[in-house]
Amino acid sequence: MSLGIDFSSENHQLIFCGIFVIICTCTVLHLSLRSFQTHSKLDGSNEFIEMGRKRPKRPKTAPTSNCEWASMRELEFYKKLYFKLQNLEEHPEIIPIARQVFLALLSEALEDYSKAPDTNILSMKHFDKGALSLFLQSHQDNVTDQYHRYISRRQSGGPRALFQDHQEAEDWLRKIAPLKLVDGAWLGHLNKITMPFSLRPIVKETWQVFTEELGNGNRDQHHVKIFEDLLREFEPDLPSPTTKSILHPRYKLGNLKYWRAAVAQLIVSLFPHEFLPEMLGFNMHFESLQLDTMQAAKELPEVHLDAYYFLLHVSIDNGHSGHAAMAMESAAHYIQHMSETEGEVAAETAWRRIQAGYVFSEWQFRNYSQATHIFARLNDNAHDKLEQNVLAIFSSKIQAAHRLHCGSRVKIGKRSLAEWLEPESFLAKEWQQEFIQSLKLRWGGKMYGAFTKSELETFELWINSMGSDQSHFYYSFIDSNPHPQFQISRIPNLDKSESKFLTAKDENFETAASIPSGLVGKSSGDSPTNPNLSLLLPLWFTQCCLLESFVYSPGRTTDTIGCAVVRFLRAQSGFEEEDSNVTGIDEPRTAENGGIVEFGLEMIRQASLPTPQSLCNLLSDCPSEFATNMLSLSSSPVRNFGILLGMSMAFLELQDMVSESSDSSLLSPKSGERLASLARRQYLCLQICLQEIPTGDERRVDFGRGYDMAKAEIKKCFSQKV
Ligand SMILES: *[C@@H]1O[C@H](CO)[C@@H](O)[C@H](O)[C@H]1NC(C)=O
Ligand SMILES: *[C@@H]1O[C@H](CO)[C@@H](O)[C@H](O)[C@H]1NC(C)=O
Ligand SMILES: *[C@@H]1O[C@H](CO)[C@@H](O)[C@H](O)[C@H]1NC(C)=O
Ligand SMILES: *[C@@H]1O[C@H](CO)[C@@H](O)[C@H](O)[C@H]1NC(C)=O
Ligand SMILES: [Fe+2]
Ligand SMILES: [Fe+2]
Repeated sequence: MSLGIDFSSENHQLIFCGIFVIICTCTVLHLSLRSFQTHSKLDGSNEFIEMGRKRPKRPKTAPTSNCEWASMRELEFYKKLYFKLQNLEEHPEIIPIARQVFLALLSEALEDYSKAPDTNILSMKHFDKGALSLFLQSHQDNVTDQYHRYISRRQSGGPRALFQDHQEAEDWLRKIAPLKLVDGAWLGHLNKITMPFSLRPIVKETWQVFTEELGNGNRDQHHVKIFEDLLREFEPDLPSPTTKSILHPRYKLGNLKYWRAAVAQLIVSLFPHEFLPEMLGFNMHFESLQLDTMQAAKELPEVHLDAYYFLLHVSIDNGHSGHAAMAMESAAHYIQHMSETEGEVAAETAWRRIQAGYVFSEWQFRNYSQATHIFARLNDNAHDKLEQNVLAIFSSKIQAAHRLHCGSRVKIGKRSLAEWLEPESFLAKEWQQEFIQSLKLRWGGKMYGAFTKSELETFELWINSMGSDQSHFYYSFIDSNPHPQFQISRIPNLDKSESKFLTAKDENFETAASIPSGLVGKSSGDSPTNPNLSLLLPLWFTQCCLLESFVYSPGRTTDTIGCAVVRFLRAQSGFEEEDSNVTGIDEPRTAENGGIVEFGLEMIRQASLPTPQSLCNLLSDCPSEFATNMLSLSSSPVRNFGILLGMSMAFLELQDMVSESSDSSLLSPKSGERLASLARRQYLCLQICLQEIPTGDERRVDFGRGYDMAKAEIKKCFSQKV
């Protein structure tokens, strides 16, 4: 596909959206660009680094073929990704690479499956819920049949299928460990407050599967915790799967297939705004019951190992009422949603994308012990290289602009590039449109000296190479322009604004380190005047972001704090109180049980205001610097944990105020009551987190600061007389 530099067709719009996304990414990344450039050497050959402390030596038995070398390189590459994807706030530079890896693997899987479409889910050309249900059921029946045959073989004296003795069982568990230690991660990034409100019911019902993977915040039921305990029966010092040490060869974990499958799982949810249907399709396959799960449940006790992890999955991942059924419902709801809101063509595309995600998961379970040429795929993509050059160019401009405190040197239209990229202004839709427009004009017109001739040539090549992003088989498969959702639906999180924010206000908080007590349940004393909704609403919705990212890596939620955060988020989303037994069956799955988002939308309806499409939308109508800063802080949930906790605590007081003022018609009395009970549950969880933080820990000081900052901001919503 050849794309000239004239800007008339829709594709070019998309290109500009593309440019725009890149610029955005660029802004986010520009501070860490140097490390980005280092890390983006995709061939991995000179970057085996940290976990081995030195480059791997050629093993004593040197690999005999290039093929083996390729496998080893690929293995190391996935191990590194595994670590970084679970520590994103320390490694944001990995995000654009992760996207390319995702597209490359997804495309390879689709290419494979398209060769014999009649033998897999691609045989279902059009979505039909009944047919899908039959298809999934027949898959399960196959697995069950195979299991019955296996059982009769065993009964007539046949050998075990997975391992023969205790030692082999250990080896088998070590082999599959990388995947099991991120159980749930394929939905880890789903629950984002920045997702469109209309998708909220689908996000919520799908996210319920995620929290059940995390035992709904009950440690004894936490899948990763259960698997860790199993491994610790013979590897007592096993480190957390989120640490670098887990990669050390001494633990003999994984092989190429399982490290790759684990990375696939960590990657698939990383871009919920862009790849939601793929995530739903992945979920639908991944949650189906596999033969080896059933076999392991039988064979582990025979060699005196605990089979609880596998028994649990036999009961929880069933197609009748468990996760597999929930997963199919979510996918069907999504297609229905697309059909109702965007029409049949969009619904068809949605179905293909769900199929793509399904195939992506199933493909990982094939016997791929060999390399898949990921480096060739990544490096051959000239477009990516150009994209990196473009990133570098924009970065250097931005850095220059910041250094000079003067954007006038890099003018695009009537503003400097730095002004265009001001985070607050950048949120506004009109602002974005205007920027794109100016960029077009610039491009069509003369150079103004902001870019050198060679830089412009790079842009030109880059734009022409746009087609090669589409050459990912994935794009032709879904038969769609890239990218259906290629719009800015995220709010740029600028490290810069975050640190400015924190230091600027520091002095106010030196004396505020004390921890407030007993906030919830008490009346807040001064009875609040009617709040100013244009101040309150942005804060109200944004409060959901504070701890949302803390849980994306399941391995980080196996301790008391992690579990408390899971329960906190469940209460915030409006889920019922946790049973001690997680079954995936009993919980009401509708969005009837509203959470903070639904109460926010109710306030909007009660006040007869127009319903915003998303938080970003709301923030462009009611800009809030504080809300933007909250979003920014929440993108580093570990580093900012204390502050985020303190802010969350302050917002519980806001929830209390709103629930109490229900007679002033913010909420219906029933909702007010329910909100109060959710606030109480959230409060208990935050208390548990606080108790776990030792005295003298910096996070306690941060807690006080976060609390005071948010409290002061909340107060402003109520202080103005109406
Ligand atoms: C089930 O197994 C049979 C025979 O092994 C096979 O022909 C059929 O395609 C399988 N069905 C599915 C949905 O995999
Ligand atoms: C998986 O692949 C390996 C290496 O390619 C091969 O030795 C093995 O037999 C295969 N196993 C199955 C079940 O196909
Ligand atoms: C609410 O706050 C906004 C922003 O500070 C202000 O412009 C507006 O006048 C306030 N509305 C009322 C009713 O006080
Ligand atoms: C919950 O699980 C425990 C074992 O973990 C079991 O003994 C108990 O009967 C279960 N309770 C229910 C209500 O299923
Ligand atoms: Fe699980
Ligand atoms: Fe599951």
